[in-house]
Amino acid sequence: LAKVEVDLAAIPEGKNIVVKWRGKPVFIRHRTVGEIDEANAVSLTDLRDPQPDSARVQQPEWLVMLGICTHLGCVPIGEAGDYGGWFCPCHGSHYDISGRIRKGPAPLNLEVPQYAIDGDKLTIG
Ligand code: FES
Repeated sequence: LAKVEVDLAAIPEGKNIVVKWRGKPVFIRHRTVGEIDEANAVSLTDLRDPQPDSARVQQPEWLVMLGICTHLGCVPIGEAGDYGGWFCPCHGSHYDISGRIRKGPAPLNLEVPQYAIDGDKLTIG
């Protein structure tokens, strides 16, 4: 299937889920207000791959991204690492609550796939 549909109403605030899309893991997080504030408080000059949080989300409470480390392709672990986001155990890359690379060998932020949100329905692809 080229597209995957996800019911966002089933994901509580502050929780992650992982779905498969084209054989790849996609991370979906229902972010809290505090997490959104944290993501927006980061200065772009502190980022290796400078992207404002607003460029990575369509709706601030929903973070959707490929669960593939941009170093060598391992799957990062959620709710882990030094920046409140994801941690890749393969070689120690830390991603923040916007999926942006903050520390470790990965060169780029976690990739945001094409998706659409319509009410409670998320369509990836
Ligand atoms: Fe993630 Fe190397 S593959 S840090």
